[in-house]
Formats: sequence, structure tokens, C-alpha cells
Amino acid sequence: MKRVMIVTGGGDCPGLNAVIRAVVNRASQEKDWEVVGSIEAFNGILREPTELVVLDENAVKGIHYQGGTILQTTNKGGPFSWPIKEKDGTWTTVDRSDEMIRKINYLGIDAVINIGGDGSQRISQALFEKGLNVVGVPKTIDNDLSATDSTFGFQTAVEIATDAVDKLVTTAASHNRVQILEVMGRDAGWIALHSAVAGGAEVCLLPEFPYDINKVMEKIDSRFNKGRGFINIVISEGARNINGNYVARESNEPGYNNRILGGIGFQLEQELKEAGCEHSIRTTVLGHLQRGGVPVAYDRVLASQFGVKAFELVLEEKYGTMVSYRHPRITYVTLKEAIQKPNLVTWDTALMKTALGLGICLGV
Ligand code: F6P
Repeated sequence: MKRVMIVTGGGDCPGLNAVIRAVVNRASQEKDWEVVGSIEAFNGILREPTELVVLDENAVKGIHYQGGTILQTTNKGGPFSWPIKEKDGTWTTVDRSDEMIRKINYLGIDAVINIGGDGSQRISQALFEKGLNVVGVPKTIDNDLSATDSTFGFQTAVEIATDAVDKLVTTAASHNRVQILEVMGRDAGWIALHSAVAGGAEVCLLPEFPYDINKVMEKIDSRFNKGRGFINIVISEGARNINGNYVARESNEPGYNNRILGGIGFQLEQELKEAGCEHSIRTTVLGHLQRGGVPVAYDRVLASQFGVKAFELVLEEKYGTMVSYRHPRITYVTLKEAIQKPNLVTWDTALMKTALGLGICLGV
């Protein structure tokens, strides 16, 4: 019997379960393959006792529309930086990658399918360089991987953000308000850009283009007549003003290497007041609502395509690769290519031109 282990790592994302189900259903068509899952990314295989689950058709029945991941996930630690508590209470990390690969071999696991974003695929590449048979599956609601046209979870996040804009428009119009919506997007503003266009927001502020508060004020002034009017602003959590101030706090979670974003919407509110905005302003931070709940059909389809393809890459022993969508094909790239550069919004982006054509203010 051959064995493939599925790992879901990094932040969760609608569609992860559809990938897991697709891998299992495709593998079950081969007589000699068994699928197992490591609980909470690589932690399951690293822990003693080991936390692995057998994934057969029964285990994945009907999970394609469920949010989250039945395998659980984490964006802390990992095989190269396993957090350890010292006697004095401080935390340090150790590299357990060699030990983990030995354990994977000992357990008769022939290949690993690692479903995750850029951080997880960096781990995939490093493990591949150490001899592990790895296939990556891209995952991120931020859609910030350049080696694939899109990632599952993104469309679901855009739907949720657009629904929020739609709702905020009616309350903003009723109160003659400036309504700010902060959405996710650490380095890439795709969720903000798509939901601003789809929801008809007048201002959209992205991490890629530091905003000038005066430009935002000009747009607000043009929308209000004698104090009446309203305006909807969508801002990415990773946005910053031209002075470079963005909002983040350090995490005290051991093994968590990112800064926690969130709150730029409130900073913008403050900046607008300081710049002389006298209208009523309200701010909503959408946060993790964008990562929860059922995936939209598009994401379930893409996730299913990725899962089937990932197992087929295992069958073909095309290791060191990541599944990729290049319209109209589901194909693959090397992991090295996959982690080379992020997918960021640029002035050349077709949707940016649309946004400008619609008169959306980008704060520049
Ligand atoms: O990377 C995806 C993302 O959704 C970012 O937009 C956000 O900053 C981050 O995850 C938050 O992740 P968590 O709260 O799980 O650490």
C-alpha cells in the first residue's frame, strides 16, 4: 500500500475541505493508495503521540461545502521552527525537519500534499530540498500568489466583503455618513479592489499604493452637498498613508512570525477628522468573517480541480511542484517558481483601470 499525507497549513480558507475530499476521492480510484491527514498542519506528525487520521471516502463525504478544514491548521511554528519553552519561561525554536522526514519515512508515507499559502510553500520547497516528496496546493484568500491565476477562498472572501459594502451603502445613505470598511489583505489589495468595484464604493485604499489623505478628502467633498450625501470607503488592512504609517501589533503567540494587522480603518477615521472632515464617520472591520463559512461554488470547483490535480502529480511523481490554474488549464509550476514573487495589484492591473474608469478614488 502506498500512502500520501495531506497537510493544511497557514490561515484557514474556504475550500480547504473541498481539496481534501478531491484528493481522497481521486486516490480511492487507485487500488494501492491510502490517504492520511496530519492534524494541525505538520504538528500532527511532529507530536508524540503522532496525530494522524485515515482519510477514506467515508471520512470526506459531503465536506466540500464546509468552511474551515477538518484537519485543522496553524500559522505558528512548523518543522523548521518548532517552538520550545525554556526553563525561564521564554520561547525559542528548533529545527525538527530532519526528524520529521525520518518519521514520515518510518510511517511508510510516500508523498505529502501541502495545502497552504506562500509561507507553507516555502516550507514545502525546503522539505523538498531535503528529499521529501512534496506537492503543494496554493491557498490564500488574499490571492497573493503569482504562480496561479487565482486561489480558492478568494471569491468567497470577495462575496462576503461585497455583501458588507452593499449593507453599509444603505446605512451610509440613510445617515449621510462616511462609512469605512476594512477588509483583509496583508500585502495585496485584491479583496478590497474587487469588493469596491462590485459594491460601488467611491474610495478604495490598497497596501500597494500609500494614500494621501488630502485626495480622500477631495473625493469626500465632491460627494457631499451642504452636508448631505454619503461615501463608502473600502480599505485593506495592510494599507498605509504616504507617511508610511500602518497599523499592526506584535503577537505574543509563540511561533507566530507575522504582525497582527487590523485597525487601519480607525486610523483613517482619525486622519479624516484631523484633516477637517466634519461629516459623521463610522468604521467596520470585517476581519475573520471573510475566512469563515461555506465556500462559493467557484471556490469549490477550483478547490476540487486542485485536489484531483495534486493527487495526479503524486501519481506521476512530479514532486517539488505546486498545482496552478492558468486559464483554461489546471497545471503545475515548480515550488521554486511558486514562491518567487507575490501577486500584487499594479497600475497595469486590468481591474485598476476599471476602477479608475469608474471614478473610484485610490488615494493617490
Ligand atoms: O494571509 C491571509 C490573511 O487573511 C491576511 O489577510 C491576514 O492578515 C492574516 O491572514 C490573518 O491571519 P491570522 O489572524 O489567522 O493570523
